Amino acid sequence: MILSIESSCDDSAISITEIATNKLLFHKKISQEIEHSVYGGVVPELAARLHAEALPKILEQCEPYFKDLKAVAVTTSPGLAVTLIEGVTLAKAVSVALDIPLIAVNHLVGHIYSLFIEKEAVFPLTVLLVSGGHTQVMEVKSLSEITTVAKSMDDSFGESFDKVAKMMGLGYPGGPVIEKLAKEGDRKRYDFTVPLLRTPKLAFSYSGLKNAVRLAVEKAEEKDYKDIAASFEHIATKHLIHKLKKYFQTNPPKHFAIVGGASANLYLRGEIETLLAPYGAKLFLSDLQYCSDNAAMIGRVAVDMYKKKMFTSLEEVEVAPRVKM
Ligand code: KG4
Ligand code: ZN
Repeated sequence: MILSIESSCDDSAISITEIATNKLLFHKKISQEIEHSVYGGVVPELAARLHAEALPKILEQCEPYFKDLKAVAVTTSPGLAVTLIEGVTLAKAVSVALDIPLIAVNHLVGHIYSLFIEKEAVFPLTVLLVSGGHTQVMEVKSLSEITTVAKSMDDSFGESFDKVAKMMGLGYPGGPVIEKLAKEGDRKRYDFTVPLLRTPKLAFSYSGLKNAVRLAVEKAEEKDYKDIAASFEHIATKHLIHKLKKYFQTNPPKHFAIVGGASANLYLRGEIETLLAPYGAKLFLSDLQYCSDNAAMIGRVAVDMYKKKMFTSLEEVEVAPRVKM
C-alpha cells in the first residue's frame, strides 16, 4: 500500500491505495473553505496553519495500515510553497519513521489521474485542466510524457469564478455558487467579449473578462447578479470552446478529458460534449467527488510511479510552487 498526502492549497487530504489493485482503501479530506470564505480567497499562512492541525489528525487514523506501507507519496509542486511544505515535512517524517521510500507527485499529473481512481489508466489522452491555479490543454502520452499545448496567460478559469463571486460578496470558492446562480439567469443579457477571439494564438486569458464583469457588477443591482453570472459563465466557457475548436482543426480528438475543480461545472461539461460530438471522441470525466483537490488522485499517480521505481531521496525532495510542463 501507499500512503499519499495532498496539501498544495486549501484541502488537507490523505489516502491509502493498494498497489496491486489500485483500490482506494482510505481517503479523508478536510477542506478549509469556510475558514477562507470570509477573505474571498485562500490566505496562504492561514492555510498552512490549518494543514499543520489537520494532517496529523488524519494520519492518526491511518495507523492500522502502517505495517503494510511500501511507500509514502506527497504533492511537491505546483501549489502554495507554505502549504506544500506542510505535506512534505509530514511525508519525510513518515518515510524516516517507517523506513519506506518517498514519491514526489506533481499535482497536475494528480488531476489527470483523478480520471483513473480504482481504474487502469488510458492513454493517449487530450486533457483540459480547469482548476483554481491552472487552465491548460495537455497531450498526455503516458505518466511521464505530457506536453502542454495551450495555457492561460493570466487568471485561470476557476479563479475567474472565485473573483466574480468575491465581487458579488458570495464568498469562496466561487465556482459552485456562480454555477448555481447562473442557472437562474439569462446568458444573453450581458454581452461580454470572448477573450482572444481575434488572435490565432492557442492560449487562454481571463483577466479582461473579469474586469468587464467587475464594471457590470458595479453598475448593477443585486437582482441582476444572476444574469451577470449566467453571461459570465457562458462567455468564460465559450472562450475554452473557441480555442479547443481551433486546436482540433489540426489535432482532432479521440480521447478527451476534463479534469480539475472546475470540471465539476455542468454547463462546461455539456458544451464540451457538444463540441466533441462531430469527432465521435470519447469524453472522460472524474467522479464529481474527485474533481477538486484530493489525495486519492495523488495515490493513483503514486501507484504508477512506484511500479516504475520513481522515488526521490529525502535530500533531493523540494517543494516547487511553479512547474513547467
Ligand atoms: O482543482 P481545485 O480543487 O484546486 C486547484 O488545484 O486549484 O480547483 C478549485 C477551483 C476553484 O477556483 C473553484 O471555484 C473551481 O475550481 N470550481 C468551479 C466549480 N467547482 C469548483 N468552477 C466553476 N464551476 C464549478 N462548478
Ligand atoms: Zn488542484
